[in-house]
Formats: sequence, C-alpha cells, structure tokens
Amino acid sequence: MNNERQPDDRQSSDSNPTLTTRQGHPVTDNQNIRTVGDRGPSTLENYHFIEKITHFDRERIPERVVHARGAGAHGIFEAYGHVGSEPVSAYTRARLFQEAGKQTPLFARFSTVIHGMHSPETLRDPRGFAIKFYTEDGNWDLVGNNLKIFFIRDPLKFPDMVHAFKPDPITNVQDMERFFDFVSMSPEATHMITFLFSPWGIPANYRQMQGSGVNTYKWVNQNGEAVLVKYHWEPLKQGIKNLRQREANEIQALNFNHATLDLYEAIERGEFPEWELCVQIMSDGEHPELNFDPLDPTKLWPQEQFPFLPVGKMTLNRNPADYFTEVEQVSFGTGVLVDGLDFSDDKLLQGRTFSYSDTQRYRVGTNYLQLPINAPKTDVATNQSGGQMLYRPDRAPGQNPHVNYEPSSLGGLHEASERGKEHRPHYDADLTRQKIGRANDFEQAGDTYRAFEDWERDELIDNLVDALSVCSSGIQERMIRHLTEADAGYGRRVAEGLAQGGHRKIDSGQTDPEQAVDLSKRLGHEAD
Ligand code: HEM
Repeated sequence: MNNERQPDDRQSSDSNPTLTTRQGHPVTDNQNIRTVGDRGPSTLENYHFIEKITHFDRERIPERVVHARGAGAHGIFEAYGHVGSEPVSAYTRARLFQEAGKQTPLFARFSTVIHGMHSPETLRDPRGFAIKFYTEDGNWDLVGNNLKIFFIRDPLKFPDMVHAFKPDPITNVQDMERFFDFVSMSPEATHMITFLFSPWGIPANYRQMQGSGVNTYKWVNQNGEAVLVKYHWEPLKQGIKNLRQREANEIQALNFNHATLDLYEAIERGEFPEWELCVQIMSDGEHPELNFDPLDPTKLWPQEQFPFLPVGKMTLNRNPADYFTEVEQVSFGTGVLVDGLDFSDDKLLQGRTFSYSDTQRYRVGTNYLQLPINAPKTDVATNQSGGQMLYRPDRAPGQNPHVNYEPSSLGGLHEASERGKEHRPHYDADLTRQKIGRANDFEQAGDTYRAFEDWERDELIDNLVDALSVCSSGIQERMIRHLTEADAGYGRRVAEGLAQGGHRKIDSGQTDPEQAVDLSKRLGHEAD
C-alpha cells in the first residue's frame, strides 16, 4: 500500500492565491485528514481539519427573531437643505440634513417579517425598510417598514403578537386561526389588517415599495425647540407596485427569492433605485383637536393637514461584497439617533428602542458595534472594554492608554460640550398602566378601505375571506364586528363571503405556473 500523498490535478497553479488556515499556515493537503495508514484511525492533532470543521459547526448565528429574511445594499443620502419653503435648520440641527447636496453614506436592509431566513419573499407580510446612515456625528438608524402604521401600540403586546403570527409551536406551520385569534382581540390592529390583506401586503419587490419610520419621532433645533415628525420613503423613478394574491402565487411557484434577485440584479445593471425621504411635521403636544393621538402608531397623519415635505434622496448603488458580513450582521436599532433627532413618547418606539440592541448583543455578540458594517465612520472613543470578540480598544489618538475610566486628571477621555440647547420636555402625570385616550380603532380603517381602488378592495375582501374561512365562528364574528365598525360595506362583504363557504386554499406544493392560474380561477381567486 502506498502511503504517500499523490499529487493530483487539483494542485493549484502558482498564480492562484494559496489556501491557509486562520493561523496563516499554508495548507498542503485539503483533501485527506491525517490518519494512521490510509485506512487507519485519525489523529487528534489534525489542526487544519479541526479548525475547518469546528468553524463550520459555528457558521450560523441565531437568525433575527423577526425580519430574518432580508436583502441589503449600500448607497448614499443626499440632503436638500430645506423642508418646504424653510431651511431645515428651523426644525432640526441634525447635520446630515443641513446643506443642499451634502452626501452621507448608508446601508439599507429590506426584509420580510414573520418566517425564517430562506422563506419565500412572496408572502403576505409587512416588509422591513431599515437604513443605517453613517453620518459625521455617528450613526443614525431609521428602522421602518413599507406600511405606514403598525398592528399594536403597546410594546408589551409585541411578543404575543409575534407568537400568534409565527408558526404554531406544535405543527410548525403558520395558522390563520391563531393569527386572527390575536387580531380579533386587538381591535387596534384593524387598520393594519386592512392594509396587509389588500395588495399593499405583498409589494412586488423591494425596489417598488414605500418605506416609513411608522413611529413618531422628534426633531430638535439649535434652541432646543422640538416638533413631532414622521418619516416616509417614496420610491422615485421605479414607482410603486403591489401584487394580487394570484400573481404572488405564480411568482412563488417559479422563484421564491425574487425580491432579493430583483434588487441585486437592478444594482448590477446600474439601475440604481432611488427614494425621496419626506417628513410630516406637527407641533410638539397632545393635539386635542385631532381624533387620534399623534403618538399612536396605528394611525396615519392626514396628508391634507400634514403634507409630505421632501428633505433628501437615497440612492442604492452598490451590492454587498459578502452576504453574511454585511446583510446578516448589520444591526439596526431605533435608539441610534444623532444630535438634532430625538425620541417621542410613542410607547411602541420606547419598547423597540430597548429591544434592538438587547437582541443584537445576543444575536451578533457583545462587540457587534465594532464590526465594519455596524461601526460608525467617525472616531469611536469609549471606556468599554473586554467581551467576546473584542478586536481593538475604542481608544482615541493621544489618549493615555492606562486610563479606561472617566473622570480622570491623567489624560483620559472627556465629555463633549453640548452642540445646541437641550430639549427638555416637562412631565406632570401619575405613573400608571393605561391605554392612551382617543384609541379610535376603526375610523381610519374605514377611511383606508374606502380610499382603495375597486380592484384593491376586491382583493382585500377575497384575501380576508380566504384567511378567515379556516377560523372558528367566534373569531370570524369578532372580525366581522370590527370590520363593520370600520365600514358597514366592508363587514358585510366579508360576512357574505364567509357565508358562501369562503375560498379553499391553493395547494402550496404547486410548481406549475400555468396550473396555478387555472387553479386560482377555479377557486375564485381572480380579482379582475
Ligand atoms: C427587527 C423588535 C416593532 C421594523 C426587529 C428585531 C427585533 C425587533 C428584536 C430583530 C433585530 C435584530 O436581530 O437585529 C421589535 C419590537 C417592536 C417592533 C419589540 C415593537 C414593540 C417594529 C416596527 C417596525 C419594525 C413598528 C417598523 C416601523 C423592524 C425592522 C427590522 C426589525 C425593519 C429588521 C431590521 C434589519 O433589517 O436588520 N424588531 N420590533 N419593528 N424590526 Fe422591529
């Protein structure tokens, strides 16, 4: 028996880079582990094999608990320098907005919400729309969705909502009975459901959809004066496109990665998608004249009263060099604001702000902010040290390296001076557990229902009837009550659809697009 390793045609030519271990040792044999004889037991000192296989065993990090499936791209934001007819400085001192033409690099990640990392991108689901701006004052993350409102307004309900929407803990299959059980007992979700089950619940791809910060934030000017603000991304030349359920089924039968590919290929072709960033502005306060609370994320701010004011433009122009290092490890959070931007008392926003960095310390690791995709492009100087995977101290040039505390008289870091006057809201209220007033759970749902075009309303009814037809009668009745509160015709049409036996589901195992069309016709899915 010949124990010698035989040279073979896999030997790399000198022009190809040499394979090494992570220790930098050249690898001379990447085909055979080290054994006693060619049939013998392997030895434990096989460093290369052990490094390779143990690293492979750890290739995955936990996927995001929500928004696991996503696609990302790099780009730039260009400021307009004004808001309406006024200089932007009247409202915010955030530097990225000030001068017309000022450019800020950014990274965008779009996502679906409920299902896992490799789930179809055709599913009815909100779409995540998260942007990390690498500003000169550190990072600003605007973590939004495509839809402009949300299901709930209190963060305490979020884990229950996600459990109800995610697959059943026994069958591991999403179940509309569980979904609508929660929704029918959360009347504030009626407005969001109206959008979600209409074609707006399946954007055609990630380029042709809107984005929204959903929550109410604040802008603060040089004098410490604040206004309430909502952010919206409006697609420019690529426009908006949503899908009927039938169209989504047809796409899914052929390709369940269509949105990721669409974004990637458009950027490779040089067709860079663009969105305009618009703000709606309201004076800071409770606004008792409105029939909703400006801090309620289940509500739209009427555009007639609060127009969309463009403040800049985003262009996505570069694909990630590596999916995992960039798209998977990028970590956005609503707490990541820069000077001139502030939180409002929107409770959902405050709950979110704790949740994001908490999950990222677990999902990515303690030092996740040192990864290139997450690190600001400004100097970072903290006294935080240690933790898994720290690969450099956050030390400033000229800092005494012995001093990792503050205050110090020995050349450590010092506090910055305030850039402008601090915004100091005043509170005078009992500490309590209470729902906000003006819940008004149904009125805007009715307005939205009536604002849809006929085909959108028809789709909405079909999709709701389809989904509710698997639910028990108690859940159906609660939903019909809520929809009727929103609009009598809305409730009646869903009730009639259910009384006629609803729709049967299209077999999700189907692969032939021709069949999908025929089957959907037969089952009454045709919306036109
Ligand atoms: C992702 C929590 C509401 C948009 C996440 C993640 C958590 C979370 C834990 C995973 C983050 C990660 O692993 O990096 C919450 C909580 C909410 C809430 C507790 C309410 C109390 C919302 C709302 C929006 C939203 C209202 C839209 C405005 C997103 C987006 C992502 C995300 C876009 C994915 C970010 C990415 O691409 O990495 N959320 N969320 N979430 N959430 Fe929320």
